[in-house]
Amino acid sequence: MKRIFSGIQPTGEIHLGNYVGAIRNWTYLQDEYDCVFCVVDYHAITIEYPVEEMKKRTLDTAIILLACGLSPERSKIFVQSHVPEHTELAWIFNTVTPIGEVERMTQFKDKARQHRANINMGLMDYPVLQAADILLYKAGYVPVGEDQVQHIELCREVARKFNTRFAPIFPEPEELLSMAPRILGVDGQSKMSKSLGNYIGILEEEDVVWEKLRTAVTDVNRVRRKDPGNPEVCNIYTIHRAFSDNAMLIEIDKGCTSAGIGCIDCKKMLFENVKRELTPVREKARELEKNMDYVVDVLEKGADACREIADATMEEVRATLGLYPPR
Ligand code: TRP
Repeated sequence: MKRIFSGIQPTGEIHLGNYVGAIRNWTYLQDEYDCVFCVVDYHAITIEYPVEEMKKRTLDTAIILLACGLSPERSKIFVQSHVPEHTELAWIFNTVTPIGEVERMTQFKDKARQHRANINMGLMDYPVLQAADILLYKAGYVPVGEDQVQHIELCREVARKFNTRFAPIFPEPEELLSMAPRILGVDGQSKMSKSLGNYIGILEEEDVVWEKLRTAVTDVNRVRRKDPGNPEVCNIYTIHRAFSDNAMLIEIDKGCTSAGIGCIDCKKMLFENVKRELTPVREKARELEKNMDYVVDVLEKGADACREIADATMEEVRATLGLYPPR
């Protein structure tokens, strides 16, 4: 069975964009692949963060993964810092990664701009650690959102460079993009993101979700109820495409373009579908919160299984590098 690796940062709050673009897709992939899913805390420390919240954010993220349907029977779910080989391999990859390649990463440039007071080596090394995450398990596929494609390309380059310089022991992993469209925030302008505050959290209460949807920006050219709208430029329609079936999409398309239905009608239909999908997730999360021993146990077993694979890879890597081994 082909192996998949993916990671998610412990931001503590996961929104519809993360869900549709990544996590939901991961749950589908569990049937077909040998899956490894990681809460990447070592990535998260490359920007300023509240130290006292990190533990909770990490556990909350794990809870969300489980609540969304990742299954510890089928997948390995763990915390990155519990398997130190990730950082060890990143160090080795540093020696084959051209500085020019990491300097031109879009995410690095964006983050360097946003965090001028702390442009640290870790920020620049971020994609190298990501390459180590993936290659430590020799994963062939990496399900990610579009914004991560550049990092996966870099991962292939790192693998290539290592393989050419030392020995061909790593695969060149490919990204697996989710079929779901990329959704914007409720402002209808920028990508949904926690830091921009334009997000709908997947564990938010129903009334909060409805209030955010009710006031979300639609087709800005549809000013009055009797104006026909254009679903193609409406973010609410895009979110419908991630949550509603074809029959409803056709109905909305017709209703919107003929001004047969208003934006509020359309949003109510969307809300029902979002609710149907996310209410069980929220309930499961609340249940897991009361059962932390189980969650901790899942993470421990995940890390144990991963350490075994990581250990074998690192032994091979050190031998390939020609290092003098301990007795
Ligand atoms: N950089 C990814 C993100 O921000 C998270 C991540 C870290 C990751 N390591 C990974 C994703 C390895 C895929 C594979 O979304």
